[in-house]
Amino acid sequence: MKVDLPARESGKMIWTRRHLLGLEELHPQEIVTILDMAEEFTDSGGNRPRKRTNLRGKVVVNLFFEPSTRTRTSFGLAARQLGADTIDFSSSGSSVSKGETFIDTAKNIEALGIDLAVVRHSVPGAPHLLSQHLNCGVVNAGDGAHEHPTQGLLDIFTIRQVKGHVEGLTVGLVGDIAHSRVARSNIHGLLKLGARVIVCGPSTLIPPTVERLGVEVAHRLDDILPLCDVVNVLRIQFERQRSGLFPSIQEYSRLFGMHSERLRRAKPDLLLLAPGPINRGVELTPEVADGPNSAILKQVKNGLAVRMAVLYLLAGQPPEA
Ligand code: NCD
Repeated sequence: MKVDLPARESGKMIWTRRHLLGLEELHPQEIVTILDMAEEFTDSGGNRPRKRTNLRGKVVVNLFFEPSTRTRTSFGLAARQLGADTIDFSSSGSSVSKGETFIDTAKNIEALGIDLAVVRHSVPGAPHLLSQHLNCGVVNAGDGAHEHPTQGLLDIFTIRQVKGHVEGLTVGLVGDIAHSRVARSNIHGLLKLGARVIVCGPSTLIPPTVERLGVEVAHRLDDILPLCDVVNVLRIQFERQRSGLFPSIQEYSRLFGMHSERLRRAKPDLLLLAPGPINRGVELTPEVADGPNSAILKQVKNGLAVRMAVLYLLAGQPPEA
């Protein structure tokens, strides 16, 4: 009888984690295992990965305390494509407005019989805290400016899919590095897989100690653009900034925005990524966002397979001793 998917192992790696909290703590082989598993979910030839039954009988809850479009919808669809039942919780309209705490909210939802909680919160470390208080598995869907591991994974998956490999590539992360959880997950994941990472933005948007992570720092996009195989354009996270960290949006856009003229300095096969949402005309002009170098919608599509892989690998693991 043909098994629906191989066991939760790939090559030499057997998956043992119950939570996915960040890419910082993952071994490179664990990252490769997730990417390889995601590849198995993209082979349907159809519009989206075919439906499976690997999570039948499981319940996955989206616990979102911050806005989301792509991450939330793709986690929900990923769970349903695997046969799980899903619950969608958002803090707005919930008893959080009556003063119920984050932990109490999560524990009450867990009491319904949850197997996996996908958590987004503005406080760095919130999913880590939940993983200590809940018995179910926890997936970090973005915690403040800390990490967004599945976005990092889907970015890296897209790079590997388009370029054929990650090792040896030069990847520029451009924009608001200081407030971007996507930047941090990209940095950890890309460095573990052997890429060269250059972060680029105004000095007020680059954390002073970022070089300690193993990246290079640049403040002039035009200088690094010709070196890059991939550029990941990060949104200005206005909601996480306390005061104006650069003179004007127009100036930011002139110095760090991706527009057609600037793109002429890049390698012709530059792969352009952006996690979304994009501010058209600020980080990217519409013709670049929708142009031939851009893989923005490919990233969204890949996000489904990557999240299916993550849910599949995490669900049904034996409880920690
Ligand atoms: C990112 C996020 O929420 O951190 N978006 C996403 O998940 N696709 C990036 C952003 O909001 O700029």
